[in-house]
This record gives sequence, structure tokens and C-alpha cells, in this order.
Amino acid sequence: MTDIIDGNAVAADVRDGLGDAIDTLADADVTPSLATVLMSDDPASETYVSMKQDDCEEVGIDAIDIELDPDAPAEELYDTIDDLNDDPEVDGILVQMPVPDHVDDRAVLRRIDPLKDVDGFHPENVGRLVAGNARYKPCTPHGVQKLLAAADVETDGADAVVVGRSDIVGKPMANLFVQKDEYGNATTTVCHSRTEDLAAKTRAADIVVAAAGVPEMIDGDMLSEGVTVVDVGINRVDADTEKGYELVGDVEYESAKEKAGAITPVPGGVGPMTRAMLLWNTVKAASLQHDVPVDLP
Ligand code: GUN
Repeated sequence: MTDIIDGNAVAADVRDGLGDAIDTLADADVTPSLATVLMSDDPASETYVSMKQDDCEEVGIDAIDIELDPDAPAEELYDTIDDLNDDPEVDGILVQMPVPDHVDDRAVLRRIDPLKDVDGFHPENVGRLVAGNARYKPCTPHGVQKLLAAADVETDGADAVVVGRSDIVGKPMANLFVQKDEYGNATTTVCHSRTEDLAAKTRAADIVVAAAGVPEMIDGDMLSEGVTVVDVGINRVDADTEKGYELVGDVEYESAKEKAGAITPVPGGVGPMTRAMLLWNTVKAASLQHDVPVDLP
């Protein structure tokens, strides 16, 4: 029997678990707050940001919604970040990526106050994570760790293969897996577009995290019996549906399910966890900046 890992259920547990921390902050007159900044008219980005706003409201985090014209000069985004950095009412700042081509995304990430960088993308926070002293773990790989924990999948000593080397998922996932820490201690291989014989690498894995952004690139033939498969991909592909598209992962689900001991579906796997861990980081940001210790789930 394959264990279908239910990301919606695990995310709901994380959100419930944050309730005590939010109550502790409320006792100190602190309501955590997250500012989202969207400088894009990409429909997927608009949807993600609006879901993040809704999530905040549901758990009692103040959500500040800032939308900038995608054609505005980069300085407008920098000035917005500066204002949010200086605003004591703002605990977390998230600039939805990607930003338009005329905006230097690395400059954007460097500009955010590292204490408010709830994505964990600022170089200071990346460095801390690599050094084994993470402040904010990036939401998607942190969510993957929580999913593995919920499914009782052991990473200690396991062979983990991360497919994809993005700054948002692949690199931080690999960095978390190699830490001498809970849900780390894995022997970790990072595969990418230049990897030769990807199937040989994935077949040798106990855990495969697929985060390449290529629809259904990993199928059952590329997996060994009993493997844990975590599918980070959320790809819109043309389909004869009302919306004109459907969402598929980086894993060909039906054939992978035949081989896997445990697998995450798309949708309903990693996606809800990314959103839940953003709330987690925002509560931590409020705790750190207002000096109110909290227990996080
Ligand atoms: N774009 C896609 N994923 C993310 C994310 O986790 N954070 C931000 N800021 N932008 C994204």
C-alpha cells in the first residue's frame, strides 16, 4: 500500500499548532503581520499572493497587500521595501518572485531586512542555513521536512536525491538534508539539467524530491520500489477543462505511485505546506522582533 501524504491535513495541523504561539504574542499585545508585495500581472503569482493573504487572515496574522505596476521603475519597489523595513508594524516582508526583468531580483532580496525576510532568501539567512544556524528556513523545503516527519519517513542515513537546483527549493532543500539536524543527516545528491543519467541517480534514492519545474519528468521507471517521492512541481499544462489548463507535478503520478512507499499528490501535497510554513516564519519573525518567546509547532 502506498502512503499518499496529505499536505492539506499536515498544513492544517501546522496552522492549528501556531494558535498557541499567536495567543502568546496576543498576550503581549503583538499581532504578527505580513506584507506581501506583488509586482507582476502573472495570473499564477496573483493567485499565490491572494492565497497567502487569505491564510494570514484565517490564523490571525495581519496581512498587508501591496501591488505595484509591473512597468513601474525598480526604484518604486526598492522604496516600498525600505518603507516596510522601517515600519515597526510589519514583521514579515514577502516580495513575490519572479519580479519583472528590469528589476534586479538579487538586489531586491538583499534590500529586505534579514529579520523580516520570512522567505529566507536574503544572503544572510541563506548563509545561516548553510552554516547550520538557520533563522528562517525557506518555506517549501521546510514544508517538505514537515511532510516527511508527518509520514514517518526517516532521512537519517537515507540517500536523498533532489532534482532541481533553484534558489527557492533545490539548493535550500539539499542544504537542509545535509545538516546534522532533525530531518537532515541524509546522503544528498543534487541533480539538474546537466546531470547525466538522471534515472540511475533517482533509482538509487530512498527519497526523491522533484523540484525541476518540468511537467511529469520523473516516472515510475525511474524509481525503485518503496521510495518516498515528494513532488514540488506545480505546472499548468493545457487541458480540456473549464480553465483551459490542469495542474501537474514534476512526477508522473500514476506510474510513480505504483513504485512508491509514500508519495505527495499535486495538488494537495507540497503546495499547502509552503503556505503553512510562511505563516510559521511570520509568527517566528514577530516573536524575534518583539522579543516574545513562543513555542512553534
Ligand atoms: N515564487 C514562487 N515561490 C515563491 C516563494 O516561496 N516566495 C516568493 N517570494 N516568491 C515565490
